[in-house]
Amino acid sequence: MASLRTESVLSVNHWNDRLFSFRTTRDPSFRFESGHFVMLGMRLSGKPLMRAFSIASPHYADELEFFSIKVPDGPLTSQLQHIVPGQDIVVSNKPVGTLVIRDLRPGRTLYLFATGTGLAPFLSIVQDPETYEKFENVVVAHGVRTVGELAYSNFLGKELPEHPYLGELVAGRLHYYPTVTREAFRNTGRLTGLVQSGKLAADLDLPALDPRLDRAMICGSAAMLRDMSGVLDDLGFEISPGTGELGDYVIERAFAEK
Ligand code: A2P
Repeated sequence: MASLRTESVLSVNHWNDRLFSFRTTRDPSFRFESGHFVMLGMRLSGKPLMRAFSIASPHYADELEFFSIKVPDGPLTSQLQHIVPGQDIVVSNKPVGTLVIRDLRPGRTLYLFATGTGLAPFLSIVQDPETYEKFENVVVAHGVRTVGELAYSNFLGKELPEHPYLGELVAGRLHYYPTVTREAFRNTGRLTGLVQSGKLAADLDLPALDPRLDRAMICGSAAMLRDMSGVLDDLGFEISPGTGELGDYVIERAFAEK
């Protein structure tokens, strides 16, 4: 049985009027794998109201980080978006999920395909040294509607490659590819089209996606998962049938409150 722990909010970052991220304390006994999600919420009128959130922080960090959309009439995020440092939130002690590297066959390049807040689990994965032990190259392809939704772009494009410890592992091997669909930007178009046309790999100077060599993880809306899986299936990639069984790619729906 999962039990709930109370953690304290340490900081909150509002990326724009639709997106925010926050950090909390972490119970030292709380363990998770890079890519996992956990139930998180607030006690509203005494009762915990919980939703699934991917953990964005690395498994070795003292703090937990989460990245969320603000749903104006969402029962939880309409409240959660107003949290301030010092306030309490509740976190279940049972992190789970299918976006785990151990379910992927060995490979050369790991493609992390995210739209919107689907980026969250990949933030944890790209900060895990084991990711770079298993893959030569790691691509983070983040698709959003507008430039203002490119959260964590400075972190992925600049801070991480210059990081005092991880920088050496990451520099030249982590390829950040932001793309915007409803505004002008240096990369435009949906991730599905960018893979189908070969533009994504070509822009990154990488060979075309190949199921014999490349692996992928997908996190986005239900429609994005369906379409992106279809693109990979057509290229001959095999999905992992479930936790503990190897495949060429794994998927998880980005959690968005309705
Ligand atoms: P688009 O602007 O063409 O709809 P959302 O905020 O709706 O989840 O969208 C986030 C990003 O994901 C947007 O760039 C959006 O493109 C893109 N997207 C939405 N649906 C799909 C899909 N089925 N396949 C690939 N990308 C998608």
